[in-house]
Amino acid sequence: MSEIKSVAIAGASGTLGPHVLKALIDAKFQVKILTRSKKPRQFDTSVDVVEVDFTSVESLTAALKGIDAVVSTVAGAAIKTQTVLIDAAAVAGVKRFIPSEYGSVTTNPKLEAIPFYDNAFKVKHHLQEKADAGQLTWTVLACGAFLEFLFAPGAAGLLDFTDRKATLFDAGDNRLSSTSLATVGKAIAEILKNSEATKNRVVKVSEVILTQNQLLRIAEKLRPEDKWEISKVAASVVLKEGLDGLNAGDFSLPVIFKIIKGTALAGEIYGSAYDETDNELLGVKELTEEDLENIVAEKLA
Ligand SMILES: NC(=O)c1ccc[n+]([C@@H]2O[C@H](COP(=O)([O-])OP(=O)(O)OC[C@H]3O[C@@H](n4cnc5c(N)ncnc54)[C@H](OP(=O)(O)O)[C@@H]3O)[C@@H](O)[C@H]2O)c1
Repeated sequence: MSEIKSVAIAGASGTLGPHVLKALIDAKFQVKILTRSKKPRQFDTSVDVVEVDFTSVESLTAALKGIDAVVSTVAGAAIKTQTVLIDAAAVAGVKRFIPSEYGSVTTNPKLEAIPFYDNAFKVKHHLQEKADAGQLTWTVLACGAFLEFLFAPGAAGLLDFTDRKATLFDAGDNRLSSTSLATVGKAIAEILKNSEATKNRVVKVSEVILTQNQLLRIAEKLRPEDKWEISKVAASVVLKEGLDGLNAGDFSLPVIFKIIKGTALAGEIYGSAYDETDNELLGVKELTEEDLENIVAEKLA
C-alpha cells in the first residue's frame, strides 16, 4: 500500500478526538477535520476544518477527495451512522478507514448478541464488505477502557476514591485492559504509519491490565489509615439489569453503563484483558507499578 499522508478526522471536537488530532499533527500527517458544524476558535487556525452532512454520501465524498485515510472518533450514539462515511470513503478512493469503536467490542464475537454493541459489528461487517470488494482497507483499534474514565468519579470509575467506597464486581479480581486517551491518539498515528502490518484487522493496545482489588491494595498501601466501605455485585446481574432496561426502552446513561460495566468487568468472558497485544508494533509502553501508584496517589489526595 502506498504511503498514507493525508488524514480526515470525524468527531475531532469530542473527548477522544482532540488527542487523535494532536497525535496526527505531531506525526506530520496532513489533517482535515470533518464536523457537523464549525464553531469559532475550536481548532487551531492552521487545520483545515470542513462542515459536512454526515447523512449525505455526496457531501462526504466531496470532503474526502484526495484523502488517504479516515479516522472516525464520532460519539457512541453516532457509531451506526458511520456506514455512510464508509460508503463515501470508498467512492472517494480513501485507502484506510479506522472506525469509532475504541474499546473491547468487536474483539469478541460474544458481544455481537448484545443489543448495545451490535452497531459496532454492523460497521465492521460493512468495512469488511468494502475490503472484500477491494475498495478500501480498515483497522479497528481495541484499546480497552480509557484510563481516565476508570479513575473518574461517578459511574465509570473502578473505585470511588473520593468517598473510599468500592463496589467489587464478582470478587474484584476480573481483569480489564486500559489505555489513556493520549496513547490511543498516538497508536492511531502509528497504525497509519504501519498501514501494511495493520491492514484489515483488529489491533490491540493495552497500557495496563487492571483489577479493582489491585487498585484497592495500592490505595490501602498509600493510605493505611483510611477505611474503605466494600460491597460486592455479580457482573452478570449488572449486565442483566442493563439489558432488561434496554428491552424496556430505557436508553438512559445508567442503563448503558450497566451494560458496559457488566461486560467489561466480567473477567475473561468477553475478553476484556489483552494478554496479546500490538503494543510493540505501535510503540505503546506499559505502565509500571510506580506509574499506577502515582495515579492512585493523585486520586486519594
Ligand atoms: N473505551 C472506552 O472507555 C470508551 C469511553 C468512551 C467512549 N469510547 C468510544 O470512543 C469513541 C469516541 O467517543 P467520545 O466520548 O470521544 O465521543 P463524544 O465526545 O461524545 O463525541 C465526539 C464527536 O462526535 C461528533 N458527533 C456527535 N454526534 C454525532 C452524530 N450524530 N453524527 C456525527 N458526529 C457526531 C461530534 O463532533 P462534531 O460536533 O465536530 O461533528 C462530537 O464532538 C466512541 O466510539 C465511543 O464509543 C470508548
